[in-house]
Amino acid sequence: MPDSHIPVITIDGPTASGKGTVAALVAERLGFHLLDSGALYRLTALSAMRAGISLDDEQAVAQIAEALPASFANEGVFLDGEEVGAAIRVEEVGNNASKIAAFPGVRQALYELQLGFRKAPGLVADGRDMGTVIFPSAKLKVFLTASVEARAERRYKQLIGKGISANMEDLLEDLQARDDRDTHRTVAPLVPAEGAYILDTSDMTVEVAVEQVLHWHALL
Ligand code: CDP
Repeated sequence: MPDSHIPVITIDGPTASGKGTVAALVAERLGFHLLDSGALYRLTALSAMRAGISLDDEQAVAQIAEALPASFANEGVFLDGEEVGAAIRVEEVGNNASKIAAFPGVRQALYELQLGFRKAPGLVADGRDMGTVIFPSAKLKVFLTASVEARAERRYKQLIGKGISANMEDLLEDLQARDDRDTHRTVAPLVPAEGAYILDTSDMTVEVAVEQVLHWHALL
């Protein structure tokens, strides 16, 4: 692969583990590009919902993913030129993203798009299968996790902070359902990649987690 010399740090983990925040800060500190692969599944789900396509129709959803008019610029996420950063963060879109992410056809459709993010001077890629499937040759692989209670609490604070009402019990249930789907699907299930460093952030601040990843990176 021509890009194989470009360093990649993969940060995989379950929902609400804080990997998105950690990945963004690590990328910033190193001056690397960032791939938020979850956003691609969310954009696909949103696009399919807007088009009125049944989310059970793998072929139709894969077609949407194949021609996804997605772009990332100035920290914004765009779908066909429209800024949809907030729209894709809605819980319903997240749950639908997790459903359509189980379709092999959808994952295949997004494969090349993700490889294209590997650009000099380097990439931090955040998701579920970054180290196992998309960038198996990554220099550093991290599996970032936290207890389900810690994750539900973080998601709760995040939603309340945005002025969105949330219920702790519903959040816990949603997280567990999503974990279950992500871990048990047959294609690209959520598992630590071989050689991945496991980082449990249940009792760790974002800053400490970022320093730990940077430390591992410096050692390689
Ligand atoms: O914010 P949260 O961690 O819940 O989700 P996300 O990273 O934005 O991803 C949304 C959904 O896309 C997840 O629930 C996964 O099912 C799916 N996903 C995936 O299958 N593979 C990836 N590389 C990234 C996300």
